[in-house]
Amino acid sequence: MDKDKIVEVLKTIHHPEEKIDIVSSGIMINISGDDKKVKIILQFKKPVDALANSVKRASLQALNEKFGTEFEFEIENIFLQRKVEERIPFKDVKNIIAVASGKGGVGKSTVAANLAVALSKKGLKVGLFDADIYGPSVPKMFGVEDEKPPMKKIDGREYISTVEKFGVKLLSVGFFVSREQALIWRGAMATSAIKQLMEEGDWGELDVVVLDMPPGTSDIHLTLVQSVAVTGVVIVTTPQEVALADAIKGVNMFRNKDINVPVLGLVENMSWFIPAEHPENKYFLFGNGGGKRLAEELKVPLLGQIPIVQSICESGDAGTPVALNSDRADGKAFANLAEKVLIALEERNQSEKTKKVEITK
Ligand SMILES: Nc1ncnc2c1ncn2[C@@H]1O[C@H](COP(=O)(O)OP(=O)(O)OP(=O)(O)O)[C@@H](O)[C@H]1O
Ligand SMILES: [Mg+2]
Repeated sequence: MDKDKIVEVLKTIHHPEEKIDIVSSGIMINISGDDKKVKIILQFKKPVDALANSVKRASLQALNEKFGTEFEFEIENIFLQRKVEERIPFKDVKNIIAVASGKGGVGKSTVAANLAVALSKKGLKVGLFDADIYGPSVPKMFGVEDEKPPMKKIDGREYISTVEKFGVKLLSVGFFVSREQALIWRGAMATSAIKQLMEEGDWGELDVVVLDMPPGTSDIHLTLVQSVAVTGVVIVTTPQEVALADAIKGVNMFRNKDINVPVLGLVENMSWFIPAEHPENKYFLFGNGGGKRLAEELKVPLLGQIPIVQSICESGDAGTPVALNSDRADGKAFANLAEKVLIALEERNQSEKTKKVEITK
């Protein structure tokens, strides 16, 4: 492998936002390999660089054109620009609450957003971190889809500004890349982007950060619990049998002896349907009492039951969470949930110290 020749080719590639080539600008940070396979690492300067993939593609194309089948090239994009010191994610945040589920679409994001707003209305300093990198929903639910939070310098260090709405500090990968773009990211890239937003977000001092988790039990869940000390997890389920079964999977993942993140409790969402024109009627569309039975079985509190109402869905789409109105029935359900979550948090904090998960295997 002739490194100089490879460097020469890479010197013909520019990042669209830089005047100089990727070698001179320091984006290309390493070339390694042997006579068959060459690995090149590109490191980008912005937290989430939308143009990184096109730089990678252009580099690969130029190298393949020059070297034909002589080498097999592999290029890895890295977004993190590590400073000399390691940064501690959510450094001045007292409690981190993850909102998770086993099954997708049960209302995690709805619960996370409204819980964050309800906690903030109780006077707590709150942040909401959208950890669902492949399907971010926080920007839409808060009506801030067009925000592009800038970098800012604090004490000589670069931070990513958070977007503040309804008293809640927000960050989401959705502010930086389109859903289509995020979908093609490989796992490593997705997790490094998530880590960077947590570490370099200008979260400041907060009482609680709520994490809106992606569906299922993926690598991202593991990365999260290994990167930050999650105080506890709130599991969202619907009363339906399939959702309950998946909720057990979710709980088991957090209770796994290698992970061991305390489960604060369950939230049963879509407990019953209340039609707008007959608010006195309750229809148990997905069955009655599933959440309560599961909570008993898992020996965790049932923190809340949230009805299906059109306003919850509509206000999520409109960017005005129902929890803003705690005098209305739908908003009250989330105010009650916030109260129960605070009680569970208090009990949990008295019983053990929050720690980061260390998985050695
Ligand atoms: N209690 C509710 N009443 C009415 N609509 C609801 C309720 N909860 C959630 N929804 C609606 O159901 C849909 C799915 O909810 P949401 O996005 O919160 O689920 P999720 O678990 O975060 O999904 P994903 O797994 O894709 O992240 C949304 O359109 C939301 O507005
Ligand atoms: Mg979601």
